[in-house]
Amino acid sequence: MQLMALASLILVTVVGFQYVGGDTFHQTMVTPVPYGAGLPGVSLSCIRSIPDIYFGYSFGRPFTLNVPGSASGLTGFPNGTISDNTVQNATTWYLPPTVDATGLFHCRGRNPVTRLSSEVYSIIHSHLRKFEPADGQVTKTINKGENATLAVISANNGSSPVWHRNNEGILLDLDPTRYEIQLTADEVADGDLFVVTDRDAPLDDNHFGMIRLIVRGCVAGKWGPPDCKGVCDLCYNGGVCDDETGDCICPPGFSEPNCLTGKLIAWSACLSGGLSVGVCDVCYNGGVCDDETGDCICPP
Ligand SMILES: *[C@@H]1O[C@H](CO)[C@@H](O)[C@H](O)[C@H]1NC(C)=O
Ligand SMILES: *[C@@H]1O[C@H](CO)[C@@H](O)[C@H](O)[C@H]1NC(C)=O
Ligand SMILES: *[C@@H]1O[C@H](CO)[C@@H](O)[C@H](O)[C@H]1NC(C)=O
Ligand SMILES: *[C@@H]1O[C@H](CO)[C@@H](O)[C@H](O)[C@H]1NC(C)=O
Repeated sequence: MQLMALASLILVTVVGFQYVGGDTFHQTMVTPVPYGAGLPGVSLSCIRSIPDIYFGYSFGRPFTLNVPGSASGLTGFPNGTISDNTVQNATTWYLPPTVDATGLFHCRGRNPVTRLSSEVYSIIHSHLRKFEPADGQVTKTINKGENATLAVISANNGSSPVWHRNNEGILLDLDPTRYEIQLTADEVADGDLFVVTDRDAPLDDNHFGMIRLIVRGCVAGKWGPPDCKGVCDLCYNGGVCDDETGDCICPPGFSEPNCLTGKLIAWSACLSGGLSVGVCDVCYNGGVCDDETGDCICPP
C-alpha cells in the first residue's frame, strides 16, 4: 500500500523538481547481509555517486563499542579482503566470519578537489542476535525537539531486553521485557547508539541488538542550523532532508536529488557473498521492482 502511495506521489511530482541544497561527498553504504556477523559472506560496500565517483574511501568504526559484559575487541576493523567494482562505483570489504564483524561501521569519502567529506554508517548484527529493530530500520531519524520512540523485537529467543545507550558510556537500564522505550528530546543526542542485551543470556557473545539515532539540527521540513531558514525539498522513498545541506539523504538504492530515481538492490548473488547490485527502472502506477530480475512487476 505504501509503495502504491509513493508511486502516485512520484507521478505527480516527478516533473519540475529542482536540485536544491549545499555540498557534501555523495555516497551511500550498502550492507547486503545486515544480520550476518559470524557467518561467511558478510560485506560492506561504499558506493560513490556523481560527482564523487572517482574519489577514495576509507572504512572504519566511528567509536569504541564497549557494551558492559559483552566481548570486547569490537574496536578494530576486522581483517578481510577488499575489492573494487568500477561498474558500480563501489568498494567492498568482505569481512571474516567472526563476531568482530558485529557493530557500527562507516565509510568516509573525501573529494580532494572540493575538500568536502562525509561519513555514512551501517550496522551489522550477529546472525544470532537476541533482538532487532521492530520496524527493521537500524537507523532512526528524528527532528530537533522530537521525542524518540525506539522498539525492538525478539530474535533467537531473546526475552529480557535491557537497553544501553553506548554514546558517552551512559547506560539505560530499564525494566526487563520492555521492548519499547521512549526518550524525550532532552535525553537523546545525534549519533546515539542504543544497544539491547538480553538480561537472561550470556553477554560475552555480542548477540545484542542495535539502533542508531540521528537527531537533525532543525525541526521537520527545515535545514541550515542554527537558524534553520532553509526549506527542505521533499524526499521520497524514506529519504531524509540533510539538516546541513538541504539535500535528501537517500536510503541505499535511491538516488539524489529526491530519492526518486532508481533502486539499487541486492540481487540474490549477494547471498553467496559477492557484491552484485542492479539499478531498477522506476516503476509507475504501483509497479514494484523485482529484486531478482530488476523488472517492474506491474499491477493488474
Ligand atoms: C589482522 O591481521 C593482523 C596480521 O595478521 C593481526 O595482527 C591482527 O590482529 C588482525 N586483526 C584482527 C582484528 O583480527
Ligand atoms: C558509475 O560511474 C559512471 C561514470 O563513470 C556513471 O555513468 C554510472 O552511472 C555510475 N554507476 C552507478 C551504479 O552509480
Ligand atoms: C515529549 O515527551 C514529553 C514527556 O512525555 C511530553 O511532555 C512532550 O509533550 C513530548 N514532546 C513532543 C514533541 O511530543
Ligand atoms: C529457542 O528455544 C527453543 C526451545 O527452547 C530451542 O529449541 C531453540 O534451539 C532456541 N533457538 C535458539 C536460536 O537459541
